[in-house]
Amino acid sequence: MNPAPTIALREATAADAAALAGLHAQSWRGFYRGMMSDAYLDGDIGAERAAFWANALASPPPGQAVIVAESDGALAGFVHLHADHDPTWGSYVHALHVAAAFQGRGIGARLMDAVGEWCERHGTRGGVWLWVLEPNAPARAFYERIGARNAERDVWEAPDGGRVPKFRYAWPSPQALRAGAGQATGTPT
Ligand SMILES: CC(C)(COP(=O)(O)OP(=O)(O)OC[C@H]1O[C@@H](n2cnc3c(N)ncnc32)[C@H](O)[C@@H]1OP(=O)(O)O)[C@@H](O)C(=O)NCCC(=O)NCCS
Repeated sequence: MNPAPTIALREATAADAAALAGLHAQSWRGFYRGMMSDAYLDGDIGAERAAFWANALASPPPGQAVIVAESDGALAGFVHLHADHDPTWGSYVHALHVAAAFQGRGIGARLMDAVGEWCERHGTRGGVWLWVLEPNAPARAFYERIGARNAERDVWEAPDGGRVPKFRYAWPSPQALRAGAGQATGTPT
């Protein structure tokens, strides 16, 4: 039996833009079906994501962190953080995606633990938070498993013009996030 591939985490560089765009578009198409319109998801979101990531990595806004998870050099997942983004809620996790073939192995939890570690290392203020769409039950279960509190409900104005209910999930501190994420290892399915 082959050993499980090693997953390595590191901060992204501009050279990762194309791979990040590919995984981001693929994940939206695979997991946001029904939450965003088919016309939008089947349109040129690859080019849109490519422009987004090229710009984000070439001209990073203050407080941005992008952490990638790799398996034998291939992108297995990523998390995109805007530190100290909100005076009330703290550092904002803008996106978290694990490639379908790598889900359920603890990579999402490791990426969220890395967010907590990054915030501790950089001395961010306040908590860590994100938006998750109400219909995205698997992601909500994941965040609840790693200790997030469902803090409030709002509405997402989707880029396709749709309106989708969303929840703000929050941890009071990077330490609380790490305590939750550190317990989860992922159960292979
Ligand atoms: C949500 C996502 C990031 C989770 O990443 P992952 O690597 O599959 O999750 P992990 O393997 O790290 O799971 C960590 C814990 O959460 C639990 N968990 C993960 N997905 C779950 C689900 N769908 N239902 C219930 N629990 C779940 C795992 O069982 C594990 O707990 P355990 O240690 O007790 O077994 C990933 O599934 C994903 O990329 N989904 C598509 C994109 C998306 O929706 N992103 C979030 C946008 S807000």
